[in-house]
Amino acid sequence: MGTKVNAQQDSKSPYVSAVSDALLSVHMRSVQPWLDNDWMYNRTKGGKTLNAALKVLHEYSREVIESRRQERQERRKGSVSISDKDLGLKRREAFLDLLLEASDSAGAALSDSDEEVDTFMFGGHDTTAAAMSFIFYNLAANPEVQARLAEEVAEVFGASDGAVTSQDLAQLKYTERVIKESLRLYPSVPLFARRIDEELPITGGYVIPAGTGALIACYQMNRNPAFFPDPEKFDPDRFLPENCTGRHPYAYVPFSAGPRNCIGQKFGMLQMKSTVAKVVRHCVLSLPRPGYKPVVTGRVILRAEDGVQLKVSPRKMAISPC
Ligand code: HEM
Repeated sequence: MGTKVNAQQDSKSPYVSAVSDALLSVHMRSVQPWLDNDWMYNRTKGGKTLNAALKVLHEYSREVIESRRQERQERRKGSVSISDKDLGLKRREAFLDLLLEASDSAGAALSDSDEEVDTFMFGGHDTTAAAMSFIFYNLAANPEVQARLAEEVAEVFGASDGAVTSQDLAQLKYTERVIKESLRLYPSVPLFARRIDEELPITGGYVIPAGTGALIACYQMNRNPAFFPDPEKFDPDRFLPENCTGRHPYAYVPFSAGPRNCIGQKFGMLQMKSTVAKVVRHCVLSLPRPGYKPVVTGRVILRAEDGVQLKVSPRKMAISPC
């Protein structure tokens, strides 16, 4: 007997609903230019929702910054006796530590409203959550892919249920292809925009004038049969190295490209790999009914209209029940 779950709705978490509210309100405002005036906008329902959501988000960022600051102070006091250096490890600072370091040396406080902290917290949350719910759907809809992935996970982890290391994650090659293929069909950021500042000559002798707005429609690009034959088919092997050779480097850009691309893509990939591996190690995912397909909607990020419905059963041979 499986349990039915909704892989996307976690409305009980105030942070999750605040992220969705904030993104949706910002999006709604951007398509209603008459709401450009802050005074007017703050009096509308959307403005009030946005301000309430931002309060929750800033509060959360403030808590994270504060607890990290305290941890750093404890560390400075010498409560940690063996340093990574002593162990011969290359120390990697977390992004938040780098920001705190920079603000400490500049003598300026890193506050809850600091855009950098907010950007990487919002940017990293909904995108990864939406991607994972679609990965789980694709695994449920393609049992042979799920079986192959479960095999890889079993090979890498064996009977161990210990902590996952970055070396373990590096071995999950098939899992990585599954994630890439899922992001092809369901890119968390389905389109992004740029303003072209200088005249831009393109192929065919055309010139795009300066000041033009450009939309990069990832969702459509990823279904271009010239690059992805039989585009609706879920086939992780499209991302085998030999099948990527010759494909235009910008034909597949779920994390964007160029100087303003996603700064969290490596972290996001590790997060998705470890979560997918953990779930598939313990659970079998299946569709709630034959032919079920989530209805997708583009509310700033790509998400399923009513969440992704899945049936979850314990996997035999699992180390512990899910
Ligand atoms: C599945 C996971 C993710 C996807 C698909 C994704 C996708 C993207 C895309 C397409 C952009 C560029 C948007 C644009 O050009 O307008 C972007 C930017 C960004 N992402 Fe991600 N992202 C993911 C995860 C993360 C994570 C985990 C973090 C942080 C921990 C993060 C932080 C950011 C930040 C800070 C930016 C803005 C970079 C800038 O403007 O210079 N993202 N992301």
